[in-house]
Amino acid sequence: MIQICADVPSERLEEALHFAERQVRRLVESDPGFYPMYTHRGKWRHELPAWTRWCDGFLPGMMWIFQGRHAPNSEEARWWFQKAVEYSEPLEPRKTDREVHDLGFIFLPTYGRWLQATGEARLREVLVEAGRTLALRFSEKGRFLRSFLAPDSLFIDIMMNVGLIFYAAREAGDAELARIAAEHCLTTRRVLVRGDGSTAHEGIFDLETGAFLRQSTQQGYRADSCWSRGLSWALYGFTGVYSYSRDKRFLATAEACAEYYLQHSPEDGVPPWDFDAPADSRSLLDTSAAAVAAGGLLRLADWTPDPVKEQMYRSAAWRILGTLCERYLASSDPGWEGILKGGVYHLHKGLGVNESVMWGEYFFVDALDRALRG
Ligand code: GLY
Repeated sequence: MIQICADVPSERLEEALHFAERQVRRLVESDPGFYPMYTHRGKWRHELPAWTRWCDGFLPGMMWIFQGRHAPNSEEARWWFQKAVEYSEPLEPRKTDREVHDLGFIFLPTYGRWLQATGEARLREVLVEAGRTLALRFSEKGRFLRSFLAPDSLFIDIMMNVGLIFYAAREAGDAELARIAAEHCLTTRRVLVRGDGSTAHEGIFDLETGAFLRQSTQQGYRADSCWSRGLSWALYGFTGVYSYSRDKRFLATAEACAEYYLQHSPEDGVPPWDFDAPADSRSLLDTSAAAVAAGGLLRLADWTPDPVKEQMYRSAAWRILGTLCERYLASSDPGWEGILKGGVYHLHKGLGVNESVMWGEYFFVDALDRALRG
């Protein structure tokens, strides 16, 4: 269980953000136009296998956060703004990409943050179109958005993307999009979130009848285990969809996932790669799951109506961030090119194991920024 103890000084989080900014600048200056996914022995490398292309929004997403942290019109703010635009614009064609279920990951950190920064109407159009494309993955039989892997497959990760459809529904005034988004979340809640708040990674459906057949996994230990990052995606994702829909069932699910995370994580808040990992890999942690959980908890703290839970979520998020800053920041290793050590992408495929992973970097920066904004 997470132990919430002494206060984490905000200076520690500020220092981590400054370090993150320096590492991203180093990457951008040494390898312009490169969107890496994970490091190999601490180095960003070209031509590492990707499994699926879902990460290109995270590097520019950090740039949008950095530009917003500097005084408006300062030299640093202008530099990051220009880089953020330069790295976001090439992603626009992916608004019609039907190969992935990750359009939220690609567009919310980029065009979403760009829109927040400038209010330019054309950016809204890009987001709406990407949301419409994502909605095309909806299967009426089974009532879910199918994963990139197969038509009968639902991933917990899609909870981080479905917010884009809620957004498009709202902006376009499209009730059908809103229905699809809500149906997907209700199905995910029913078949992938268990009674104790733990989550399965994948659900498999009968394509003929739409009946749910079984829980499964791709990146977790077993079908019946709780893959840590999947739980964090659910915690953060259900909180996000509650903010769009105000459907209390989604808030309750986010709280159940948070409860599981808090109860089952070690005292310092950084979980093993799977909460049910066997003894031989139990010591392998996933800092990216912790970073995502911290950001999710900070958001959930803003939405829960219960002041006791609010305080608990906020304190737990600070505890996690304190641990990440203290023990996993790569600043202690000058040769390491990433920000946060100890992420895991896909253990079974041997991809990005105990490395810096780009979504871990982004959600760490996102949570630090959120925590410091209070
Ligand atoms: N496929 C998304 C993830 O690795 O979390």
